[in-house]
Amino acid sequence: IRVLSVASEAVPLVKTGGLADVVGALPSALAPHGAELTTFLPGYPTVLKDLSRPRAVHVWESLLGERARLLAGKIDGHPLLVLDAPAYFQRDGGPYGDVSGKDWTDNWRRFAAFGRAAADIAGGAAKGRTFDLVHAHDWQAAMALAYLRFAPSPGGKAAPSVMTIHNMAFQGFCSADKFPALGLPAEAWSLDGVEYHGGIGFLKAGLEAASAITTVSPTYAREIRTPEFGMGLEGLIVSRGGRVSGIVNGIDTAQWNPEKDLALAARFSVKTVARRSANKRALEAEFGLQPSDGPLFVVISRLTWQKGMDVLLEVIDHLVGIGGRLALLGSGDAAMEAGLHAAAMRHPGKVAVRIGYDEDLSHRMQAGGDAILIPSRFEPCGLTQLYGLAYGCVPVVARTGGLADTIIDANLAAVMGGVATGVQFDGVHYASLADALTRTVTLYEQPEVWRSIQRAGMKTDFSWTRSGKAYADLYASLIAEEQ
Ligand code: ADP
Ligand code: GLC
Repeated sequence: IRVLSVASEAVPLVKTGGLADVVGALPSALAPHGAELTTFLPGYPTVLKDLSRPRAVHVWESLLGERARLLAGKIDGHPLLVLDAPAYFQRDGGPYGDVSGKDWTDNWRRFAAFGRAAADIAGGAAKGRTFDLVHAHDWQAAMALAYLRFAPSPGGKAAPSVMTIHNMAFQGFCSADKFPALGLPAEAWSLDGVEYHGGIGFLKAGLEAASAITTVSPTYAREIRTPEFGMGLEGLIVSRGGRVSGIVNGIDTAQWNPEKDLALAARFSVKTVARRSANKRALEAEFGLQPSDGPLFVVISRLTWQKGMDVLLEVIDHLVGIGGRLALLGSGDAAMEAGLHAAAMRHPGKVAVRIGYDEDLSHRMQAGGDAILIPSRFEPCGLTQLYGLAYGCVPVVARTGGLADTIIDANLAAVMGGVATGVQFDGVHYASLADALTRTVTLYEQPEVWRSIQRAGMKTDFSWTRSGKAYADLYASLIAEEQ
């Protein structure tokens, strides 16, 4: 099965969040199941820079009005296609906004063009490359499916498609006056087409057009049927009923393996968990924290409302009050950054903050922290709790989405049975989080119990083995349906 995997990010070329980890991991996860994924990415400067010996395999004189080329290369040894369209992607800043973090005002046009190009590729534009299925990720790729449905390239056969939702909070929307510029036929302007609240909804259009919809955990697949999590698209999700399923993310066990991780002061395995203490001492030194035997909490996160970072701020004094310390790595909301700096000033040696993005440091934190705090209001899957499991850094998580699906709460029965892997709490507010922290400290103070929670987490299978097969089975069933 040949699959065109369309996304706006993929490690190791471009990453702003978990989407990139997942898109980057899928080709290797699917290969053992007979599916060959070709990843299709926008040609941001960082992506073009890393392409070794690219070959042009197609040229558009006018891709929604701009000149563009299609380049072929490799990503981690798997096939890669890149849309080299300077007018859309050759800019300083991030994938979606300028250096100050402000979204580009023409994102609708950039990602419509990206979708148009993907539909052309699926229709055979890149000579010698044919595809049996198109897999689009998030709103930036969603228009690919709308173009395939309403304006396939001439001669191209209709391919089945999968639309994966990594985050319902980002839907891609623009006003109705942009419709003529999209190059779609008039019939696409309909309630079950691209029209959404009087404008154009990118994710909405993709969800209407897809043969199947997936999201990144079974619990989130259920949650998005409700207004709180569906964020306006709950009705559509319900109407697509059995076409919607949840497949939980795995992690790249080559990148995240505490036995081989060169970023760490000391490598360790489930049999040598005690060696983690060297990583803890190193982390304390790196963050300027007072060494102590008390629990060291870590946070590695975008600083946003989704991640519950406002509630974390409220609970820091309590965390310190019960003998905890906190090391945080993140960036995002400016007011939250300021609040964190203030907390670090209030608690010198107990609370330390790094604003920024640092992949190696995130590994050292998972290896040296005792527990990782993830108080998300919603979490389609979440990857940092999986890295925490793999590294013996006990996840303390809100019971939502993928956090609910991947962690076993240390209630009495789970502890007695030796199957607990973390701490869960209900509702993201001061009292629930404070209570979870207190419970965590109580568990930490029972060394045998704590060690058994760490070990159970490290033994959990969080690889792509099962989920890779689940995607492969879905692809196969959609292709069979078409015949
Ligand atoms: P989301 O995609 O919603 O941000 P995930 O948990 O799925 O949440 O993925 C976040 C990814 O980004 C993880 O790989 C995490 O380790 C990484 N990450 C987040 N913030 C930082 C940071 N400041 N520095 C390094 N890595 C980070
Ligand atoms: C999104 C979600 C996160 C998920 C990631 C990868 O960024 O917020 O929960 O893990 O996508 O699927």
